[in-house]
Order: sequence, then C-alpha cells, then structure tokens
Amino acid sequence: MRDAELSEALLRWYDRHARVMPWRVSPQDRERGVLPDPYRVWLSEVMLQQTTVAAVKDYFHRFTARWPTVADLAAAPDADVMAEWAGLGYYARARNLLKAARAVVADHSGVFPRSRDGLLALPGIGPYTASAVAAITYDEAATVVDGNVERVMSRLFSVQTPLPVAKAELTALAASLTPDQRPGDYAQAVMDLGATICTPRNPACGICPVTHACAARHEGIQAELPRKMPKPEKPVRRGSLWMATQGNAILLQRRPDKGLLGGMLGFPGDDWDGNGAAAPAVAQWQDIGEIRHTFTHFHLYLTLLVAELPNGTIVTRGEFISHNDFSASDLPTVMRKAYDHLRGNMSR
Ligand code: ADE
Repeated sequence: MRDAELSEALLRWYDRHARVMPWRVSPQDRERGVLPDPYRVWLSEVMLQQTTVAAVKDYFHRFTARWPTVADLAAAPDADVMAEWAGLGYYARARNLLKAARAVVADHSGVFPRSRDGLLALPGIGPYTASAVAAITYDEAATVVDGNVERVMSRLFSVQTPLPVAKAELTALAASLTPDQRPGDYAQAVMDLGATICTPRNPACGICPVTHACAARHEGIQAELPRKMPKPEKPVRRGSLWMATQGNAILLQRRPDKGLLGGMLGFPGDDWDGNGAAAPAVAQWQDIGEIRHTFTHFHLYLTLLVAELPNGTIVTRGEFISHNDFSASDLPTVMRKAYDHLRGNMSR
C-alpha cells in the first residue's frame, strides 16, 4: 500500500469505528461542518497524557461543568484546580494547564491561537499537545505522536530500533503518513487503532484495517514491537507522614509548587530521601503501619505516624483543616491512601 492508501484505509475505518468521547466531534458531524471546541480538545489532550480515556472521562465532565470556558478556568483559584485534578497524577500537568489558560486569556483575549506554532508559544503547552490540538481542532497537518502512534508505526514498518532511541524514526514515519485531507480525524484514527486493535499485547490483527500493509505482521513479530531498552529497576524510597488530628480537624500542608506532587495538599512528611525531617509537633506519635505507592521513577514506602494534638500544641508546619472543609478526593492518590489507612478503610 502507498502511504496515501494507508491513511485512507485508516480514515475509512475511523468513519465506522471512531470511539465516542465527550470532547470529540464524530467524523460524521465533522463532515457536516461541526467544529470541535479548542478548549475541550486541549483539556482532554492534557488529561489523556499518561492516563487512559476511561480514567479521564469523569474528570473531564467535572472540569467542564465547573469551568465551561478557558476564561472560567483561568479565573479559578489554583487550589480549586489542583483539588479537581487530584487522583489524575502528574500534577505538573495541572499547573501547566493553568499557566496556558491564563496566557490565552491575558495575551490572546481568551481565544486559542489557531496554529501549532501559536499554541506551542504558550507557556505550559508542549509539542504533543500543540500538534494534537492543531490537528484535531483546526485540521492542520501536524504530526501527532503518542505511545499508541509509536506502537502502530513500529509495527506497520517493522522498526527494530528500541524506544526511546526510535522516537525520531517513528515520528518521521508518522509524518510521512499524515494526509493533507482530514489530518485531525487521521490523528484520532491512529490513536483509536492503537488503543483498540493494535494493542500492546495480543493485537487484533484479524480485524485491523491495515493488516495487509503491516510489515511486522508479515514477519509474525507484531507482538514484540515496539522494542524497548530495558528499564532500570525502580529504587525504593522510604519516608514518613505525620497525620495529626485535633478534634474534628486534620493537619494538612500544601506542597511547594515545584517538585513531586507540586502544589498539592497532603500530610506533612520528610523529604523521602532518608534524610529525615522533624515532626510538625512534639507529641506521642503512634506508628499505624505503612502505605506503598509507585511513581514514575521510584517506589515509595511511607510509615504513617498519628497523634491527637491537644489544643494549643505548637505546630511548625501545615494547618488544621476541619473535616467539613475538605474532601479526601482533594488529595493526590498517595495521600489518599494514607488518609484511607488512617480511617481504617483502605480503598486500594
Ligand atoms: N489519546 C490521546 N488523545 C486521543 C484522541 N484524541 N483520540 C484517541 N485517543 C487519544
């Protein structure tokens, strides 16, 4: 198959099998001239990085109900946005989201730039997001490359170079297939194919619209691709969280904007590097056990220390927040695990 035939086959498949998503304009509506809302497309693409469609849907509905336009989001207090993002992970994404929203309002009168380059010039918008929004919203022939697209390209062209070295090669292949007509639907077609048919394990080659053009399939090695450099084992880091209560209130501290869980609410802890740190108050701290959480680059084991602090106890970090004024869902997952452990109902 020529490149043009490949992309046409993918588009024909997408016309019949496009997944329904709350931010997506179906290929039929697109054909009728319905245009996607750049705010919704941008928000969804930021949420979808490192997260599955299933996990994103509820977050997307809550965000767009609370902040229907980019101007609403730009005007939101940081803490509210971080609380709504809690549980999605990779919290730098939420901080970048706010940065970009505020720049759209401050520098572009609340209207998203209409090109990939214009989008890329915004703070908080990287190459993937700029390409995805430009292609899906404005039908710019930008090349959109996520993990799904890398997998599809590596198999179609039987690329043996392991990731991440293969990234440039796979991007060039993806660019060579991107059509001038309907590049937005095409980008979504490849992502949908990767998510539903050309899956990491057990790809469903029998129902794939481009199976006859697939070099890896001809060689029988589709499930082995893309090859990956062996990942170094994740180290284990240990630390503590101090969970202080005072009547109906609990001691919480907002983390610094920079670094792990930046800007998120949590329990005061040490730096998780084994360097230790002082407890936030002098008290009879009781060890109630350990929780474990895995981040991108390490496993974290945290010892939970609990104390009821009498009124008037000097507290060096954090502030007491009444249970009525905060919801456990405002916490990032690792802190949520600690909270659930404290309450005796481990939810995960
Ligand atoms: N994954 C990330 N963005 C996507 C999109 N627009 N369509 C399908 N899957 C996606």
